[in-house]
Amino acid sequence: MWSSTESEQENREAMLDHIGIAPSILSADMAKLGEEIDSIKTADYVHFDVMDGEFVPQLSFGHPVLKAVKKMTDVPIDVHLMVENPDETVASYLEAGANIVTFHVEAATHAHRIIQQIHTAQALAGVALNPGTSIYELDSLVDCADVILVMTVDPGFGGQSYLPSSADKIKAVRELCRKHHANPTIEVDGGINNDTAATVARAGARLLVAGSGVFKCPDRAKAIRQLKDAARLGLSEQA
Ligand code: DX5
Ligand code: ZN
Repeated sequence: MWSSTESEQENREAMLDHIGIAPSILSADMAKLGEEIDSIKTADYVHFDVMDGEFVPQLSFGHPVLKAVKKMTDVPIDVHLMVENPDETVASYLEAGANIVTFHVEAATHAHRIIQQIHTAQALAGVALNPGTSIYELDSLVDCADVILVMTVDPGFGGQSYLPSSADKIKAVRELCRKHHANPTIEVDGGINNDTAATVARAGARLLVAGSGVFKCPDRAKAIRQLKDAARLGLSEQA
């Protein structure tokens, strides 16, 4: 039973609408990438994981593949740069048409300059944090970043298990943003499924990346809908 006023309820409903799902094509079948991209056309973003074999152990794909993906879909692309030198590589992803470009704070030499570069290209700028990195690394960045990506696994592979310490970290990031009167979108990545979606949404995440959570399911539209519903349910149960 709602005990809130009508306007509080409206606000709550507006907040529920703001959950986005970004399937990671790292878990897609590369032999039929076109079909795989088409199968996630109800998603809010396509999550595009760039791995350089240095910042993380594996190699994935780069900006030529991003250019091809842009031709396959109108869904905006969320590029996650897991690379040692984002200062040098960000330009090619902007040029290839990325809509969000997220780089790791652990790898960036001049983070503010990268953010400015992303904004100059009319894209959204994201800053990612590994599970072992302190939120205070974000202190001077929450004011200018559009997205804060809280990694909920150590980056590098799809299909890992969600780290339970992540919920407290998401809450701490949200609190840090509040202190700065900043309102970046909190994104999460790693081990997100119908069980963990509610937890991260309740903690403050609004953009949920899911690789295996979407691609292991034959009906991708259903998987996306279920993740969104699970996150919304978590939010509606918020104290
Ligand atoms: C890995 C990537 C993730 C990965 C998520 O570090 O950044 O985006 O694809 O895969 P799942 O959802 O399977 O953990
Ligand atoms: Zn990712």
